[in-house]
Amino acid sequence: MLVILMNTQKPDDIANRIEILRDEIHAHNYRYHVLDAPTISDAEYDRLFQELKNLEAEHPEFQSLDSPTQRVGAAPKKEFPAVAHSIPMLSLDNAFSVDSAKDFDKRIRIRLKTEAFITYACEPKIDGLAVSLVYEQGRLISGVTRGDGVSGEQITENLRTISTIPLKLKPPFPDVLEVRGEVFMPKAGFKALNEKNALLGEKLFVNPRNAAAGSLRQLDSSITAKRPLSFFAYGIARMEGFSQRFSTHSENMQALKKWGFPVCAENRVVEGIEACLTYYEQLQAKREQLPFEIDGVVYKVDNIELQQQLGFVSRAPRWAIAHKFAAEEAFSELLGIEFQVGRTGTLTPVARLKPVFVGGATISNATLHNMDEIQRKDVRVGDTVVVRRAGDVIPEVASVVLEKRPSQTTHIAMPKHCPICHSDVIREKEEAAYRCMGGLFCAAQQKEAILHFSARRAMDIDGLGIKIVDQLVDKKIIQTVADLYTLSVEQLAGLERLGKKSAENLVDALAKSKETTFARFLFSLGIREVGEATAHNLANHFSDLQTLIKADELELQQITDIGPIVAAHIYYFFRQPHNLEVIQGLLKAGIHWQAPQSKSVSNSPLFGATFVLTGTLNALSREEAKEQLIALGAKISEAVSKKTSYVVVGDSPGSKLTKAQSLGVPILDQTQLLALLEHAKQAQSQ
Ligand code: IVH
Repeated sequence: MLVILMNTQKPDDIANRIEILRDEIHAHNYRYHVLDAPTISDAEYDRLFQELKNLEAEHPEFQSLDSPTQRVGAAPKKEFPAVAHSIPMLSLDNAFSVDSAKDFDKRIRIRLKTEAFITYACEPKIDGLAVSLVYEQGRLISGVTRGDGVSGEQITENLRTISTIPLKLKPPFPDVLEVRGEVFMPKAGFKALNEKNALLGEKLFVNPRNAAAGSLRQLDSSITAKRPLSFFAYGIARMEGFSQRFSTHSENMQALKKWGFPVCAENRVVEGIEACLTYYEQLQAKREQLPFEIDGVVYKVDNIELQQQLGFVSRAPRWAIAHKFAAEEAFSELLGIEFQVGRTGTLTPVARLKPVFVGGATISNATLHNMDEIQRKDVRVGDTVVVRRAGDVIPEVASVVLEKRPSQTTHIAMPKHCPICHSDVIREKEEAAYRCMGGLFCAAQQKEAILHFSARRAMDIDGLGIKIVDQLVDKKIIQTVADLYTLSVEQLAGLERLGKKSAENLVDALAKSKETTFARFLFSLGIREVGEATAHNLANHFSDLQTLIKADELELQQITDIGPIVAAHIYYFFRQPHNLEVIQGLLKAGIHWQAPQSKSVSNSPLFGATFVLTGTLNALSREEAKEQLIALGAKISEAVSKKTSYVVVGDSPGSKLTKAQSLGVPILDQTQLLALLEHAKQAQSQ
């Protein structure tokens, strides 16, 4: 598209376009680097930058020294003294695809005239701010921001407040050392800072990078000192007066560690570009769990002599590239609000957005969570908003760009009546959520309840999707989950987009679902706060449904993980005549399960033990692990406490591992879990 444009455009048009792009990029640089208040997303900025780079490459006659492609960032702010960098602080070229990462490797091998694998240092691209630290005789004497790459702002006093930046080096150290690295705000610190600011009614930061930038640019360093900032070193710019010389980047990193600098633990050295791409995949999978934000990975030729042979082009080294992840945030316009009614009647405000590409997909709806969030963020229809989509997380409206607020905006109000069934909408005491009081009279709640009932982990009714449920409820063919079992092939085959064969398959799937387990049945009922683990624990504790129905709140609270709130939900669920009727209908339809074989379970050495699972299991799925443990009489809990018998740890475990370690709870890896299961099964069968 770009090529066609260029071929058909007149030179004047191209010169104009180049000028426009340069002006725009300069303005965005200033807003981003100096004001910390960007008005376009990183991805949009990258697109503008790339377009300008392409045009300049195609038309060298229009090249100019003052083009933003010839510089990095914008001029430093006035308040801090400007300092020239002894060695320019360069930037990195970006690769947005696997192909361009492979091209980077090809270019290197062509320049170095080698077919052999290149050894690369792979590192996370930390989403913070680059700084340069100068040490003389082992003492920090100067700390400077990147600024425009040639000179930056002297912010030594502020940098001194960051606990992870060493003020004195561990000997033996060089006479002079200039270290480059990234200052950033860890995710947890960012969340806490914003929560505190919200309480105090102060400005909220859009993301950890902006929070880090805002904190570093405080003229009063005592404010910086209160901000949760951290630092990773990723390069040595200058080293004088030291007996040792290092021949690779990774050796430099080792030396930095020895002198006392924090170096990211995710850094690796690999052979060849394919291994770099594997690193990229692995880090992307881990991205959510990392305690700090990253926006890609950096591949660096490890050998310093080869780096020198490769050299630089205007703003970036030829020996390194940033392979970026799909942008997780983008700007869009809030076109309107709809309220979605969930299974328990909660009304969730959903933003209708001008479609925007973010996190690798086009998004036109995003959650606004609840009314408190809307008020906290002061979101209005007509606003420009930051849309965020991270990993598998539901896209959300993260914040509003107040600078772009038009004169006409509409405040968002919770409707007084349910948009689906027109029942009253009420906010329950001390809850963030507003609920439709229509209960199962509300078609939205009926649909959600039916979809939850038929989900794979509940009654596992294959082929019953949202399109069919919509029609069944809208046409009033069914109202409750019990009605599902009265459906005939003829009734189903009459629905849109459902042929006779699919109707037969669905009736078969319904028949098959009748044979289930007690735990699945309890989970499928959709009792508030009763997830799979609680359903399993209930099924383990009560020998049959009638005893559970009769149980009072105190008895329910005897069960692992069930506190007063969950107990109340369960108790009241079974006190509603309507719910008992539905249960009766289901049992009458023939739903059944095997009664627990209590005798053999009580033989099991795991009988009564409580397990918590954390991280990704790959020896067996989490589901399989849970089912096998429960079959052996163990209980599954979501939270680690002193009462937990074992914590099973898979890959990338969460905070549960740390909690277990601090409480001294025994920790099992996957192999140990398999061995334990095997042992328990043998003991049980004896
Ligand atoms: S190396 C000459 N390594 O990314 C090479 N930079 O887009 C200089 N960054 O200005 C940079 N993590 O602020 C390097 N592991 C890493 C990095 C990293 C984050 C930032 C840094 C730099 C920008 C370039």
